[in-house]
Amino acid sequence: MSLPTEEQVKEKLTAVIDPELRRNIVELGMVRSIEIKEDGQINVTVSLTTPGCPIRSHFQDAVVQQVSSLDGVTGVGVGFDVLSDEEKAGLMQTLGRGKLPQGALAQVKNVIGIASGKGGVGKSTLTANLAAAIQAEGHSVGVLDCDVYGYSIPRMLGVDRKPEVNAERKILPPVAESGVATMSMGYFVNDNAAVVWRGAMLHKALQQFLEDVAWGELDYLLLDLPPGTGDVAMSMAQLLPQAKIAIVTTPQPAAQSVAARSAEMSAKVDVEVMGIIENMAGFTTPTGETFSIFGEGGGQLLADELEVPLLGNVPLSEELREHADTGNPLAIEEPDSPAGQAIVAIARKIIASTPRELPMIQSMDTSAPELAPKLGKNARELPLV
Ligand SMILES: Nc1ncnc2c1ncn2[C@@H]1O[C@H](COP(=O)(O)OP(=O)(O)OP(=O)(O)O)[C@@H](O)[C@H]1O
Ligand SMILES: [Mg+2]
Repeated sequence: MSLPTEEQVKEKLTAVIDPELRRNIVELGMVRSIEIKEDGQINVTVSLTTPGCPIRSHFQDAVVQQVSSLDGVTGVGVGFDVLSDEEKAGLMQTLGRGKLPQGALAQVKNVIGIASGKGGVGKSTLTANLAAAIQAEGHSVGVLDCDVYGYSIPRMLGVDRKPEVNAERKILPPVAESGVATMSMGYFVNDNAAVVWRGAMLHKALQQFLEDVAWGELDYLLLDLPPGTGDVAMSMAQLLPQAKIAIVTTPQPAAQSVAARSAEMSAKVDVEVMGIIENMAGFTTPTGETFSIFGEGGGQLLADELEVPLLGNVPLSEELREHADTGNPLAIEEPDSPAGQAIVAIARKIIASTPRELPMIQSMDTSAPELAPKLGKNARELPLV
């Protein structure tokens, strides 16, 4: 079968509209490059106005959908880079406007949610420790505690200050000793007061945490998600379509089906699962005896089932819990302890697998059926929760 020409690909791309600027990406000069390979693979690089562009996944889906409809195309890869200042100035002139939309979190390069199917598996502990470990590797990190009922990030990262508001009426996230910027409902309610949120209020609160908090430039924003697949996960997918999630599971094989539900949910709402973290894995005594209190192998099973990497296994560790309780993450206080080492290794894997500098190319083989949910068009049609 003959290959499509660059002109034909471009023609298709005129159907990809920037929802904020309301014009197509060819007209806007946002198509950086088109590569047509002999085997029918087409790679398109789209230039965005800001690196943390919240509509990145919209472009990705739309480009794949349009280009894959051409005859002879076997796969579509979509990469992104950012317009230079000069190009942005040119674009503003084309549009006849002085300011390009920034979008929430415009200066945040990666958003990663830490999720699980059931509660108490160590999401918050791992979020706090991974944030501190990634920061210690030299990257700027923020943590948003999305668990508005069972918030635990202030305690685990040892922050007991209330946030201040700056001159632009943005909320300044309190910074932990580790350098991690934090935001949590815990800063806004009195000690141990029960907070009752209905869906719509919850969505609003999370939206405010994203839009009214001066997060500034961050390499990573980690989201400590509440357990399960409810309202918060839906809201996050809606507010942050570019986010990825890491799923925490315990090692017993039976836990896997529960954890798999959060993956199903992610697929439904178009969020990419970046990998699995197994927590509370084997406990080794000082004499070298290992006890697998919560069973073995569940993390690997789930990773295999979802065809995503196992990012690591964090052992059961009394020190990890103690340090979380006192607000001093083990991963930076005792990075050489077994749990500390495991967490630092996971942090490094996360760093290695996420782009901090654009461009990035995400290859997508449109013929692979298991990718279908990720390309679903429902992502931005979720009911408001
Ligand atoms: N690897 C581990 N070894 C020992 N204790 C752990 C480990 N991971 C977590 N814990 C402890 O287990 C308890 C639950 O952990 P955590 O609060 O992080 O779970 P969670 O998944 O965030 O819970 P929730 O679903 O309620 O938000 C805490 O007391 C924590 O210190
Ligand atoms: Mg938690």
